[in-house]
Amino acid sequence: MANRGAASRPNGPNTGNKICQFKLVLLGESAVGKSSLVLRFVKGQFHEFQESTIGAAFLAQSVCLDDTTVKFEIWDTAGQERYHSLAPMYYRGAQAAIVVFDITKPETFDRAKAWVKELQRQASANIVIALAGNKTDLADKRMVEYEEAQSYAEDSGLLFMETSAKTAMNVNELFLAIAKKMPKLDTQNPTHASKNRGLTIHDAEQSHRRGCCGGN
Ligand code: GTP
Ligand code: MG
Repeated sequence: MANRGAASRPNGPNTGNKICQFKLVLLGESAVGKSSLVLRFVKGQFHEFQESTIGAAFLAQSVCLDDTTVKFEIWDTAGQERYHSLAPMYYRGAQAAIVVFDITKPETFDRAKAWVKELQRQASANIVIALAGNKTDLADKRMVEYEEAQSYAEDSGLLFMETSAKTAMNVNELFLAIAKKMPKLDTQNPTHASKNRGLTIHDAEQSHRRGCCGGN
């Protein structure tokens, strides 16, 4: 998935006039399904033979929360070890991260924990981190128990969801949960809000809201 793109799909009514923009990065071992989760979220698609990412890919997608459109600028990183040194470039300045593992491969859960540690040490202090246990459709091959990951996430202050990019289970829900955790707007004082953790707000009139949540 090397193409840049921006898209919006309906996620509920958008009656408001504010747009918040956040940088979100996906991290995790190769083949856990990072690109597939992004592809599902942004385009509603799934490819059985998804190509391994080279370097990183960028996509954008919005979700709607009451009176606010939350736009994610998504950096989908490459999980292969040889790209590890590039990762700080993508998580630096990110306000949210999704660390992905494959529930059928325990070593990817260990790798996810290492990414969480790295983010907690080196990313923005107030970054919102979500842990995604992907490929839940492969339940008969499960090697990481829900409770184990859930308890680790709780102890580490992470959002946690099990997902399936293949069936779409919890994919929109995961991004929505992250959007809800992002800093609340100070609608009376946009100057203050825009300084808050890199949040940017635009008046609807001034922005190009191509097909934004309310209707494509
Ligand atoms: P890198 O780009 O190498 O870091 O890998 P990635 O984490 O982006 O994984 P990718 O999305 O390329 O998926 C790897 C393989 O797993 C592909 O063959 C996908 O079709 C498959 N896959 C991804 N998500 C799921 C899922 O939820 N269920 C199943 N069954 N397969 C999945
Ligand atoms: Mg990929």
